[in-house]
Amino acid sequence: MKNTLLFKYNPEDSESIRQIGEILKSGGIVGIPTETVYGLAANAFDGEAVSKVFKAKGRPQDNPLIVHISHISQLDEIVSSVSEEALKLAEKFWPGPLSVIMPKGEKIPDEVSCGLDTVAVRMPSHPAARAVISAAGVPLAAPSANLSGSPSPTTAQHVIDDMWGRADAILDGGSCAVGVESTVISVVGEKPRLLRPGGISVEQLESVLGEIEIDPAVLAELKPEQKAASPGMKYKHYSPKCRVIIVKGSFENFRRFVKRKKKCAALCFDGESEKLNIPCIEIGREHDSSAQAHLLFEALRRLDDMGIETAYARCPDSDGVGLAVINRLLRAAAFTVLDADGAVLIGLTGPTGAGKSTVARLLSEKYGAGHIDCDAIAREIMQKDSPVLAQLANAFGEDIIVDGELDRAALAARAFASKEATKLLNSITHPVIISKSLAKVNDFTREGKTAVILDAAAIFESKIDKLCAFTAVVTAPDEIRMDRIMYRDSITQEKALHRMGAQLSAKEYEAKADVVLKNYPPYDIETEIIKIMNELKEIKP
Ligand code: TXA
Ligand code: MG
Repeated sequence: MKNTLLFKYNPEDSESIRQIGEILKSGGIVGIPTETVYGLAANAFDGEAVSKVFKAKGRPQDNPLIVHISHISQLDEIVSSVSEEALKLAEKFWPGPLSVIMPKGEKIPDEVSCGLDTVAVRMPSHPAARAVISAAGVPLAAPSANLSGSPSPTTAQHVIDDMWGRADAILDGGSCAVGVESTVISVVGEKPRLLRPGGISVEQLESVLGEIEIDPAVLAELKPEQKAASPGMKYKHYSPKCRVIIVKGSFENFRRFVKRKKKCAALCFDGESEKLNIPCIEIGREHDSSAQAHLLFEALRRLDDMGIETAYARCPDSDGVGLAVINRLLRAAAFTVLDADGAVLIGLTGPTGAGKSTVARLLSEKYGAGHIDCDAIAREIMQKDSPVLAQLANAFGEDIIVDGELDRAALAARAFASKEATKLLNSITHPVIISKSLAKVNDFTREGKTAVILDAAAIFESKIDKLCAFTAVVTAPDEIRMDRIMYRDSITQEKALHRMGAQLSAKEYEAKADVVLKNYPPYDIETEIIKIMNELKEIKP
């Protein structure tokens, strides 16, 4: 643990700034305010000091840092050449929230650029940042001052929460005006390319450069085999511990969707909290992207203090600074986006032998609902030569693959051996199952379906229920289920009981579901299904 000094920024107090400059000169690391987010700064020419920044953050070694300057004369020490485009950008947007990737100069150590032959440079506008750079007398390499993976800090308190005992000093300069990190643009390729949206919008950049390319990683998840142009974009970022799901569509449909959700909260726009019956954090007015940028990271951090499992976020606009807001929110949500205006997703589950498949069939044949079989998707994504199968082999051993195919028993033996192993299995398979399922829902919406059944045995264990507007469970007493399983699968009573024992009990299913369908005498399943129709009417009247 380091003894962290805390300073408060006061333009009149040059002594504090001088002391911070000394700390930086002698190889220390300091949390400093900028107009975007707080940075964790080190002398950019001192590889050893820069290594301390990586260590304090727990940052992956292949994710390079931005070098901050306070005067344009410092640029020549950092880069090997300045293109005309770079010059235009600097003239127009510096000081300000724009980082420009240029060819790296010799004085910049590999610790900063992580072995790349380019370097990102930015001149911040915050007076405290500029004063600190001047006092240090050297350019400062500074990533955001959060622990790697968590939301960037926009107040000194956030930096204290993450960096106390890790940084040599923290300078409190109040809350950051922009609230999301700088725009990162590369001008080393043929065409200027936006790598990370931020405080300077695409529209602003294009007013200076003409058309620019948007890197695919800005709005979509990179496939495991794709290389990230900006290494930072490939990491899971800005993630609160609670799960975030973006719900696009009208406010009214959002309200109906979250209405019966338990242990959840909403990230919503100003004025919406009072109309929602769940805990809410407001993130600015609906079309006010600047306000949303300013409040987003604070909101993501607050979610964790609330102790909830899932947060449903309203979908922000994606133009102007909104592109930065949606880019960060998409990462916080691991790219999970639901469409509340589309087909209603109904989770269907139940213990083995209760009659889940019969209900799924009735709903699709009689009521025209779309049907997604999660268990079939799970099998499909682990097929021969699939990326998931390769990841599983990597995690659990190459010998879970026999003649190119998955040996299910071998995988099960390892993946269910411990809680950690099961968690690892789920972390590989669940995101893919979720994204495939959501793609299928969108297909059904396009086909004009109003309801889609998401049929999954382990819907609660996998937490896929959180994607559904509501869940229905099909139940029957143990004896009846046992008889059905023995008959259906021609197995012994012992085997049937073993299978039943591996699942949640019927009672547990019932307690978690919104609707319970009784599939045993004297109940009639055709009549029971009407409960689903009634619930559906509540969501889409
Ligand atoms: O607003 C900001 O930019 C803040 C404040 C402190 O200035 N800093 C910041 O740094 O957000 P950081 O390290 O959290 O993000 C830097 C991003 C990463 O995505 C990194 O991969 C990318 O910039 N980057 C840095 N150097 C690069 C290079 N040479 N080529 C491509 N991407 C680069
Ligand atoms: Mg960062």
